[in-house]
Amino acid sequence: MSTLKINSLKAYRKAYQESIKDPEAFWSRQAETFVWKKKWKKTLDWDFQKPDVKWFIGGKLNITENCLDRHLAERGGETALIWEPNDPSQKFKTYTYQALYEAVCQCANALKANGVKKGDRICFYMPMVPELTIGILACARIGAIHSVVFAGFSATALADRIKDASCSMVICSDYNARGAKNIPVKAVVDEALKMGCKSVKTVLVHQNTGEKVRWKKSRDKWWHEELSRRRKTCKATAMDAEDVLFILYTSGSTGKPKGVVHTCGGYMVYTCFSFQNVFQYEQGDVYWCTADIGWITGHSYIVYGPLLAGATTIMSEGVPTYPDAGRFWHICEKHKVNQFYTAPTAIRALMAQGDHWPTHYDLSELKVLGTVGEPINEEAWHWYNEKIGKGKCPIVDTWWQTETGGIMIAGLGDISPIKPTYAGLPLPGIQACLVDAEGNEITGNDQEGLLCIKFPWPSMIRTTYGDHERCRNVYFSAFEDKYFTGDGARRDKDGLYRIIGRVDDVINVSGHRMGTAEVENAINEHPEVIESAVVGYPHEIKGQGIYAYVIVNAAVKDEDRFRKEVLKVVTREIGPIAKPDRIQLVSGLPKTRSGKIMRRILRKIASGDTKNLGDISTLLNPEVVEAVKKGALA
Ligand code: WTA
Repeated sequence: MSTLKINSLKAYRKAYQESIKDPEAFWSRQAETFVWKKKWKKTLDWDFQKPDVKWFIGGKLNITENCLDRHLAERGGETALIWEPNDPSQKFKTYTYQALYEAVCQCANALKANGVKKGDRICFYMPMVPELTIGILACARIGAIHSVVFAGFSATALADRIKDASCSMVICSDYNARGAKNIPVKAVVDEALKMGCKSVKTVLVHQNTGEKVRWKKSRDKWWHEELSRRRKTCKATAMDAEDVLFILYTSGSTGKPKGVVHTCGGYMVYTCFSFQNVFQYEQGDVYWCTADIGWITGHSYIVYGPLLAGATTIMSEGVPTYPDAGRFWHICEKHKVNQFYTAPTAIRALMAQGDHWPTHYDLSELKVLGTVGEPINEEAWHWYNEKIGKGKCPIVDTWWQTETGGIMIAGLGDISPIKPTYAGLPLPGIQACLVDAEGNEITGNDQEGLLCIKFPWPSMIRTTYGDHERCRNVYFSAFEDKYFTGDGARRDKDGLYRIIGRVDDVINVSGHRMGTAEVENAINEHPEVIESAVVGYPHEIKGQGIYAYVIVNAAVKDEDRFRKEVLKVVTREIGPIAKPDRIQLVSGLPKTRSGKIMRRILRKIASGDTKNLGDISTLLNPEVVEAVKKGALA
């Protein structure tokens, strides 16, 4: 049985109407298609003010039984996972559903033997290897909560996340093979664990490249040793529908990254439903999402959504340009990929390498192309459509967030109206709306406003780990009875949504979310920095680049040295993805009379628009604006 498969625009409209008229009946029907250990008593309870949202109350399930066990009878021999290594001369690996099931059970047994229990938090810091998928499913199998940290984050950032969730175990690889580089992953974990991560008892190390690593006997264990000889079956722990499935950290406008919490039942129902419909996946298709499992896209649309749907999902270790800019298309040809899902930043980067790369490969199996993570510009959209899709593949521009768990606004394969740079219509069950700054809903079409969702959906954020108040403040306090996304959007005359971008202090660099405050805090760690302000600015490949204005103390004589040091500090505090593209030394920052930095002005200057700065007369220090402008042009 599968969740509803929508196969026409008419069917979409009907499903949408039903999902709005009676959301509980609609989602109850979807949920019934899964294996439950005990049926739920009530479909939904909600209060956005607290917030308190519960789906499938009283229901018991295990998501891995739905990802794996239930497929075994029918398609145990079919391919669940294809792993494409960084080095194309190395052979790819495949796991059938049966093999993946056995590997997950073995790993689950190894976790149990190492004392992992239901509710424990397990941190993953791994490259894109099959063991990452196996490991997180093994956690889910026994009710442990996974917290995957993108392996590009620094030791400091990793330590912050381990401490915030008090993880009892870290699972990592020895090294990460990425393009021509070999990144020491275990060494970063070693360093992080020196930063006061007292909760960690065990580090389980997967041997990826096999090079030498330091070893702490009382703490470190090899993955292959711990898994070998374990039984290949493992009883799936009965989880409450609202038990936590995972935590995933993401950046906000203030403070440190927060742990977004997703729960078992609703997340399962929605990721499967959205996967099948957005990508119009048909049995036997090969689906490839190029994201990293360190981000939500990898969680929902490499692992859970596809496996729940019984799909064949590809995970690739490498980067788009290694060994050359044809790698993506080579993989598409090799595995006869039918659905391909990537980020606009990758499309722009490959587009910049020239039109000939895709022409060397047979892309005729492609049926649906997807994008995610940031707005796609017209030029990239058309290139994707023509050079990759050959004008015959619909592009599903999928808008969603870590907090939403699944795709919220997007086309459904070729059945929805498609308009370049528009994400399109909301999925069934998603009550999207626009509000003005006062929170009044903007009705009617051909309008612009702040994007909110006014009714719960199954895979929505439940809390921010260890700090429920923060969850309320960030998402539910801006507008009464609405979830506020932080994005601005436009709705065209036909009701299609176009995402304009963040309206808060979050920037989107190469599809990665970054809080400007987070980057500022990192920069401020440099001993010569007095104050800094970070804004985003349009960047041809990355979508947004990071622009830092920095006030330094008099000691800075050599600006080049200083800039290099700032990049080092940011890499140390967060990771290379947060390195500013531009650092401008300034004598002052424009501030309001209450002392707040006027980022609006800084954003304009960073984008090269120094003319229309608006009214600056109310500033505490209007004179600094001229100086900042001059420095920017210099
Ligand atoms: C942005 C990624 C335009 C948006 C799944 C959102 C997009 C943030 C799109 C969430 C899209 C995501 N078009 N903008 N198709 N998809 N965004 O949490 O600003 O990493 O709020 O989740 O990315 O980023 P996150």
